[in-house]
Amino acid sequence: MASRNKIALIGAGQIGGTLALLCGLRNLGDVVLFDIVQDMPQGKALDLTHLAPVFGCDFSIKGTNNIADIAGANVCVVTSGLPRKPGMSRDDLVKTNAAIVKTVAEGIKQHAPGALVIVITNPLDAMTYMMQKVTGFPARMVLGMAGVLDTARYQAHLAEELKVSVKSVSAFVLGGHGDSMVPVRSFTTCNGVPVDKLIAPEKLEPIEKRVRNSGGEVVALLKTGSAFYSPAASAIQMVESYLFDQRRVLAAAVQSNGEYGLNKGVYLGLPIILGKNGVEKIVEIDLSAAEKEALAKSAKEVEAILPLLGV
Ligand code: APR
Repeated sequence: MASRNKIALIGAGQIGGTLALLCGLRNLGDVVLFDIVQDMPQGKALDLTHLAPVFGCDFSIKGTNNIADIAGANVCVVTSGLPRKPGMSRDDLVKTNAAIVKTVAEGIKQHAPGALVIVITNPLDAMTYMMQKVTGFPARMVLGMAGVLDTARYQAHLAEELKVSVKSVSAFVLGGHGDSMVPVRSFTTCNGVPVDKLIAPEKLEPIEKRVRNSGGEVVALLKTGSAFYSPAASAIQMVESYLFDQRRVLAAAVQSNGEYGLNKGVYLGLPIILGKNGVEKIVEIDLSAAEKEALAKSAKEVEAILPLLGV
């Protein structure tokens, strides 16, 4: 008899709660919602248990303050950490969130050694690097959710400009999940038509600038936290690609093995195939010289943070 998937959500805040809801709505498996705040994950879990009959979600959800409850999870999605406040860069968060992610990584290593780990906590590329170092898991099993979201933001604003369905826009945003991210125009199309044939450079540039700052734009509007619906949805797409061996081609923060001329070991948003073995492959696409240069610059920015992590 096939066993049910178990999805551990580490951090039960805004993104963690939304992830739990989406796991239920999409019938992905049973959910464990872990947080250090007493009672809060249990409260969210109870609320979602009451939602299940309304939508016919066949899932069990357990809220907990005991990390041992993640035992046997197939996937861990990590959102534990502080979100950005207005005026804070993602990198301002580095030391606080590094300490939190280190503790969580030790818990995952002990209790869910076979899991795929998807990190969302910012600064995302550095926190994913930290997760892999502390767990010692194979690099193919530790990746960060950023490229899917950054790409979705690019697609959303391109579709708005072109007045077409988001489904008709295919895009790639690579590099670090920060201001140096690289929207890859040469692989961005509307049903195969290159985007720079459809939108003039003077219109395309402000869209790309907006995408780079989209996270900050949301933070400035929310005032009390950072984006949560779209980061959660993006991670769910990754979870589904892994659990159902969909082999989606998507952008994710993964460990470089020298692809694109990057230093080995750095974590950065690159195109991958995500399937039942985790990162099945890092796909090397033919970037323009300017895009390659922008990717190298973005990698340098991520590398500059790594010494602060103490791993
Ligand atoms: N173990 C588990 N959970 C923890 C720990 C820990 N050691 N430390 C903090 N947390 C929990 C907090 O109690 C909180 O409930 O992490 C949760 C984070 O939730 P929110 O503050 O609502 O933040 P959220 O919007 O979900 O963002 C989480 O993702 O996008 C990034 O920048 C964002 O780093 C932030 C993270």
